[in-house]
Amino acid sequence: MTSPIIEVRDLGYAYPAMEPHEEAPWVLDGVDLEVERGEFLSVMGPTGAGKTTLCLALVGIVPQSTGGFIRGEVRVSGLDTKTEPVSSLAGRVGLVFQDPETQLFNMNVEAEIAFGLESKGVAPEEIAERIEWAARSVGVESLLGRSPFELSGGQKQRVAIAAMLAMTPEVLVLDEPTTSLDPRGRQEVFATVRDLRRQRGMTIMMVEQDAECIAEFSDRVALLAEGSVRRVGPPPEIFSRPGELVEMGVRVPQVTEVAMALNRRHGSAHRFVRLEEAVRSLARELEASQAAAGP
Ligand SMILES: Nc1ncnc2c1ncn2[C@@H]1O[C@H](COP(=O)(O)OP(=O)(O)O)[C@@H](O)[C@H]1O
Ligand SMILES: [Mg+2]
Repeated sequence: MTSPIIEVRDLGYAYPAMEPHEEAPWVLDGVDLEVERGEFLSVMGPTGAGKTTLCLALVGIVPQSTGGFIRGEVRVSGLDTKTEPVSSLAGRVGLVFQDPETQLFNMNVEAEIAFGLESKGVAPEEIAERIEWAARSVGVESLLGRSPFELSGGQKQRVAIAAMLAMTPEVLVLDEPTTSLDPRGRQEVFATVRDLRRQRGMTIMMVEQDAECIAEFSDRVALLAEGSVRRVGPPPEIFSRPGELVEMGVRVPQVTEVAMALNRRHGSAHRFVRLEEAVRSLARELEASQAAAGP
């Protein structure tokens, strides 16, 4: 058996206290999580749950740049992110942030994608090849000469993803990558991430609140609340207990709300989380009831 590509064991983390005599709270407090190679894991949870902090811990920014206190273990591709230099981790795991504006700062898209490679000292011919490959992977090959600032939100976020891909990481971590985008931009980014997973077998961990998208794409969902993983499982298992999710302030797919309402009213046992499953399931039930009613 191969070991999981992401291994988080009893991770606790506290940012540095504001005042020397103060005690900083654990914002992560006993996180356990494993992600298999090639898996698509979504992370949901209320604001302040520690989702962003967990993402930062996977790329070593927490605690290497932030300081503070850390306990437990975080390994990505077997590397300890507490001690492995952030620059060397960048070749294994890339992090895409919520707001594409904060990630783009170069003259044009090509320079943006090249940036990490140049600072790593990759040979110019290889940089050119990787730019082309990364740009093609996210569909921004026609934008290479453009300034990042004149792009749409979805395009910017795809450029940010390309800049990560160019480093050829094994794991892509995305922290609410569509929150600041319009519906079209969201669609573009979701489709891009889905294709990376399908066509390149990349391991994806995505923090996201869009329940429909999560139900559609993820293998498993982890629910994070108050600094620890409360539950983790496939979307139907996670979304079939919506009461708890609503309490946490996490939305479930609309079709799952429909399923729950039907179950309450008719004593049925629908468990669909995707639109096409709902259509299939309801059509079957309708046909059965029509057949029972006779001609
Ligand atoms: N740089 C920081 N210094 C101190 N506290 C922080 C810092 N960043 C986040 N926090 C606190 O850590 C907790 C978790 O934050 P965060 O990881 O951003 O949660 P989420 O992404 O789930 O909303 C929050 O209480 C937040 O106020
Ligand atoms: Mg966050």
